[in-house]
Amino acid sequence: MPIRVGNKADGDDFFDRTAEREDLWRYLAGNHVVLSGARRLGKTSLLQRLAEEAAERGWQARLLDVEGIDSAEAFVDQLARAFDEATLSGGRRSVGAAVTRVFASLRKVDVRVPGGAGVGLELQALAETPWRKAALALQERVSGQTQLFLIDEFSVFLDKLLARDALDGERLLGWLRAWRQQAGLACRFVFSGSIGLNALLARHHLSTRFNDCADFRLGPFKPAAALAMLAELAQREQWPVAADSLEHLCRRVGWLSPFYLNLLLDGSLQAARERLEEDRTAQRLLTTDDIDAAYDRLLANRSRFFHWFQRLARELQEPQLSFTLALLAAVARGENGLSRRQLATRLTRHEPDPDRRAERLDEALLLLEEDGYLDAGETIHFPSFLLRDYWRRNHGR
Ligand SMILES: Nc1ncnc2c1ncn2[C@@H]1O[C@H](COP(=O)(O)OP(=O)(O)OP(=O)(O)O)[C@@H](O)[C@H]1O
Ligand SMILES: [Mg+2]
Repeated sequence: MPIRVGNKADGDDFFDRTAEREDLWRYLAGNHVVLSGARRLGKTSLLQRLAEEAAERGWQARLLDVEGIDSAEAFVDQLARAFDEATLSGGRRSVGAAVTRVFASLRKVDVRVPGGAGVGLELQALAETPWRKAALALQERVSGQTQLFLIDEFSVFLDKLLARDALDGERLLGWLRAWRQQAGLACRFVFSGSIGLNALLARHHLSTRFNDCADFRLGPFKPAAALAMLAELAQREQWPVAADSLEHLCRRVGWLSPFYLNLLLDGSLQAARERLEEDRTAQRLLTTDDIDAAYDRLLANRSRFFHWFQRLARELQEPQLSFTLALLAAVARGENGLSRRQLATRLTRHEPDPDRRAERLDEALLLLEEDGYLDAGETIHFPSFLLRDYWRRNHGR
């Protein structure tokens, strides 16, 4: 079975995320959730796993991918169909035993803000939409059900909807918010997507429409989980590994995203296979040299990382685009990351006015952090060494 390096990981290919799943179930007792995380970090895989284990936790769950649609009407329709399928396959579960079980065992982690006057206004605005009836009918049908809607690519859908019909987009967000605020609601939503929802909302000045959800930020694997996954995968491929070689692989990747770990392992096994073909007397053993060879080869494959660049070019307008690219180039050139002050100084040429520069920097960092280009802790740096080295090589000036 080949190593999974593209689609969501499921079945035996899904590793770890144990603590994250526990946390998410705990959050869901009292909250709706925005699941954010860098590209390719495993959001879809995690949603899928949540959907699979929902029933034993007392939820009836449906995973929806809304990437393909761009209207509020289609969105409501897709939710309704998902709900019908869930009730057909799971049977209707009312706010009875299951919910009591879910809620009784869990401490409520409530970050909800009161709906206030906004909810009434949001529902008034709904009066003018053609999808109002379907929306309210769905809300009514779901009422009292321990339904869990896991909505993937919500940010991609919303981006398209806002571009096509901003007013309709705002109405949809308003209705969803009013629904989430409904008293005694038993259903829960998880929103996710491959572009950052928070930065998207901020760009459209719509952040308050989602401030009632708990933000759950997915991180990389812990070292032990990364090593366990690599060891298991190498063993499945029947490749013994030289001492310290998997640790070396983790060091080279830097940021333990399962995707990059899998990608580099896959490339390393390929390199090892080729080495063995050239020299039949060589030992069948994955070595640090194989890993280094695969790393260089990955970087040489420009198309592998090009979409990281392309995304910015597509999404940002000038002058913010040039500013953001200059920012990334400056960080890529720095050996150990830069402080915010160092970075601001390096960007003087691109925005001489200090206040405007600070604003541009905030806006750019919000997007770059949420989508996993950069980490902004004590220093601002690329968490992924692969991406940093790619950027240095191809967009570093
Ligand atoms: N829990 C996991 N166990 C093993 N591999 C994983 C796991 N999560 C992610 N991966 C790896 O990452 C790849 C991408 O996973 P997935 O599609 O779930 O990420 P994503 O965050 O949804 O990506 P995108 O941002 O493109 O939507 C998988 O093909 C697999 O190689
Ligand atoms: Mg995904």
